[in-house]
Amino acid sequence: MDDLFDSIQPNVEKRIAELSAELEHHNTLYYQQAKPEITDAEYDSLIGELKQLEREYPEFVKPDSPTQRVGGAPLEGFEQIKHLVPMLSIEDIHELKDEELEELQKTTPNTTRTHNLQEWFKRFQRSLGHHDVRLTVEPKIDGVAVSVVYRNRMLDYAVTRGDGTTGDDITQNIKTIKSIPLRLPDSAPDLFEVRGEVFIPNNDFLELNKQRDEAGEPAFVNPRNATAGTLKQLDSKLVATRPLDCIFHSYGRVDHAPYTTVAEFQKTLKDYGLKCSHWFHQPASNHELLECITRLDEDRHGFPYATDGAVIKVDELSLHKQLGTTSKHPKWACAYKFLPEQKETQLKDITIQVGRTGVLTPVAELEPVFVSGTTVSRATLHNQDEIDRKDIRIGDTIIIEKAGEIIPAVVKVITEKRKPNSEPFNLFNYVKGKCPSCSGPIEQEEGFVAWRCVNFACPAQAITRIKHFCSRKALDVDGLGTAVAEKLVATQIVRTTLDLFDLKKDALANLLLDPAKLETGDSKPRRLGEKKAAMITSSLDQARLAPLSRWIYAMGIPHIGESAAREIARLHQNLTKVASSTILQDLADLPDFEELSVSKRKKENHPRLNIYQIESELGPVAAQHITAFFKSEGGQHVLEKLKTLELNPISDNYDPEKSTHAEAASAIAGKTFVITGTLSKPRPDFKKIIEAQGGKVSGSISSKTHYLLAGEKAGSKKTKAEELGITILDETAFTKLLES
Ligand code: IVH
Repeated sequence: MDDLFDSIQPNVEKRIAELSAELEHHNTLYYQQAKPEITDAEYDSLIGELKQLEREYPEFVKPDSPTQRVGGAPLEGFEQIKHLVPMLSIEDIHELKDEELEELQKTTPNTTRTHNLQEWFKRFQRSLGHHDVRLTVEPKIDGVAVSVVYRNRMLDYAVTRGDGTTGDDITQNIKTIKSIPLRLPDSAPDLFEVRGEVFIPNNDFLELNKQRDEAGEPAFVNPRNATAGTLKQLDSKLVATRPLDCIFHSYGRVDHAPYTTVAEFQKTLKDYGLKCSHWFHQPASNHELLECITRLDEDRHGFPYATDGAVIKVDELSLHKQLGTTSKHPKWACAYKFLPEQKETQLKDITIQVGRTGVLTPVAELEPVFVSGTTVSRATLHNQDEIDRKDIRIGDTIIIEKAGEIIPAVVKVITEKRKPNSEPFNLFNYVKGKCPSCSGPIEQEEGFVAWRCVNFACPAQAITRIKHFCSRKALDVDGLGTAVAEKLVATQIVRTTLDLFDLKKDALANLLLDPAKLETGDSKPRRLGEKKAAMITSSLDQARLAPLSRWIYAMGIPHIGESAAREIARLHQNLTKVASSTILQDLADLPDFEELSVSKRKKENHPRLNIYQIESELGPVAAQHITAFFKSEGGQHVLEKLKTLELNPISDNYDPEKSTHAEAASAIAGKTFVITGTLSKPRPDFKKIIEAQGGKVSGSISSKTHYLLAGEKAGSKKTKAEELGITILDETAFTKLLES
């Protein structure tokens, strides 16, 4: 038997190495060169085989295995790491705004927008005492800075900028980025600290926000915020679901650098399989520099990431040393910051969208214009406050730009071009105090600007709720897109999401969809047909078995996104338990909870929080929304309907231990006890009682001890507890604490 084992092992090790190399090769093709050679299914099959082998033979799991990109358990907090070399920022040079340009042109007629840059260039040449300084130009990527350290060619750790000297250890999160190699080629130096910007590509960002909107989660303002928010996550499994990417542009400490210029450094990055900017130029003169910058300002609108300027560097690294740095930035580089592209257009109309949660959002309908790479015909106006602040009126001539180069926004109104008969826009009056979709009542929540349709049966809400309910990350019902959802609601076959489970295949097949004019030029309604109907009903049958977390997410409760849903499912066995949860109610009742960071909650051992509440990332806002939902008319309807459908979704990640402690919510949970003196029962009996309620028992007193349970003839432990100000309980006080 042993012989057989010995002969299998080298083969396994070899196969693991083969699979790892093959997968990293495909990662490079897919994530760096965008030239995949195999299908997603083939990739999944390879990684599946590797995972299986590594499970069976954990001794062969290498730190740079492609399976190690998603780390283990969530972290409790980020460790701090001191940078090997401080992470500086770059001096900003601003492009001139209209007003500034006009002002300067009064005295110097030939001044252009790049005036400040030309001044920098001249100053720079003077300080070096010669004119032939070679420069490089590359995009300034609007991302989140990271420093990645490779030791002996293996990715050792990754740190955020932090205060420039010390940052957060985000290694787990950075390893989820598949375009970042876990290992460098043999030619790389022993120590290689490389710096870059992490970002979410523009298209992925729009998709992410769409999903968040459908989930009732607040949208991210721009890709940078989304990236920063993602990198702050302690659970790398969640990070792995976000489409992060990274482009490297500079270095920290490097032993025996194989390059002497910025251009050579770029080449080295490429050789090592580290992604760098595809847009890189070396202008030969001041004139060419300006041309280069203008070109970048045009080209950047087509880049997959947000850029807010051009980084200009001295090419020769020996000159970097000579020029040195100020306390904040190097003297050998500057960042020329572009003004966002703005365009003038007409505000043709304002329409009102009813979201899944009933919020009425005003949307600007624009005369289409081309700005920052795409044609823009709509822009959100957010709410009444925003409209009042900018005094936006229908028919106005307005200036628009893309916030963070992505989301169209109205900058201002050109009031000089305003028509004399225009009137201020008032959302409430405009919709005549009724929901534009169902004519139901609208209300403004206390403390909020937004108006909300409160009719649970509002068709506009029903349609978006159904779409969310069926979306991939919710119950993943195939074939139920916008057209079908709209028709089902319009014909009143379906009023609420759960009515979907009453759908009959025949009725569905006969559903008449509105003609898809654009596609076919057809003007006759189309029948949904047997095939699509069968797909939908069989998908719905599958959905009945989906785990609790997906069901909770699918309900589309505001502030309950995927991760909140997973956390809720971790603490409850099934949906009925969630609906009557004391854990969630307790959390919802803690108004000051959110101000306490997780580490602070732990450190202070907050007296009102039990172990679950101390550790959970689930805040009271999410808890308030989910408890309020099950108490609401809509929530009650859901519970009744689930009963008639004989459905009670079950958790697949239920963690009974955590939950018992949490549900017990006793004052003992999470607290550390020391037991001393003579008690009515043997000490192990008390230990059992404490542990059953989620407490811990330790042998010695320290500042971490919460309570000393002291019987008769307690000695030195009691004295020490008194010195440290630790609460001392006799048996009666202990029993009382238990009962509380
Ligand atoms: S070079 C001394 N190149 O912008 C720093 N930085 O405010 C040398 N950035 O700290 C950095 N794109 O985080 C460099 N192409 C680029 C960049 C870039 C974005 C970031 C970087 C830097 C910050 C400056």
